[in-house]
Amino acid sequence: MAELSEQQSAVDWVLSTTRTVRKRLDLTRPVEPQVILDCLRLAIQAPTGGNAQGWRWMVVTDPVKKAAIGEFYRSAGRKYFAAKADSKRGEQDLRVQDSAQYLMDVIERVPVLVIPCIKGRPANVEQSAAYFGSIHPAIWSFSLALRARGLGSAWTSFHLAHERETARLLGIPEGFTQAAMLPVAYTIGSDFKPAKRRPVEEITYWNHWDNTAAR
Ligand SMILES: Cc1cc2nc3c(=O)[nH]c(=O)nc-3n(C[C@H](O)[C@H](O)[C@H](O)COP(=O)(O)O)c2cc1C
Repeated sequence: MAELSEQQSAVDWVLSTTRTVRKRLDLTRPVEPQVILDCLRLAIQAPTGGNAQGWRWMVVTDPVKKAAIGEFYRSAGRKYFAAKADSKRGEQDLRVQDSAQYLMDVIERVPVLVIPCIKGRPANVEQSAAYFGSIHPAIWSFSLALRARGLGSAWTSFHLAHERETARLLGIPEGFTQAAMLPVAYTIGSDFKPAKRRPVEEITYWNHWDNTAAR
């Protein structure tokens, strides 16, 4: 790799070490509202289709509401893992499952739950690319901004099985779709490592499908 400036190295560090954090979320350290706003201020620099910016960010800190969402999350998570119970899984899968089940157990104790919402609802696959493409980049930017400040999160979707009940609980109006839920906390330690991935050279094709010879 080419030599990087300090600034480039800092960006690469955040990009390569922003992991899904579950067991190392600090459940005891409060998260200041200001740090959430700072990260969301960066997140909304992300692009949106047609520059629509139809996002709203639901930040949940109320213990009673977090407990209710925690029940929705657990109930859907249990069904997900029950459905997978018979499938053959490798070591990494089992590690992820163990970590995901830990998060299910403690979800309401995570200091902040952030639910990104976006106006409308996609009618079909073609629309859904632009639709979710108008909130996912901002969600990821939010995760990166958290990482840069010593906080962590996990992109989760289990609670969406109870999207309506969650909307009722939080007063989210009809016409807005919940895209994910991010439990947010300071992390215990910050020595996260790049994940194992297939070499990029194997999955990048140049000028023709399957041609991995860079030109
Ligand atoms: C769209 C999406 C939905 C996910 N939903 C959940 C979830 O409901 N619960 C959970 O514990 N993790 C969830 N994850 C996290 C993945 O399991 C995680 O990315 C995977 O374990 C790889 O870890 P890494 O991001 O650190 O490489 C989700 C991730 C994505 C991108």
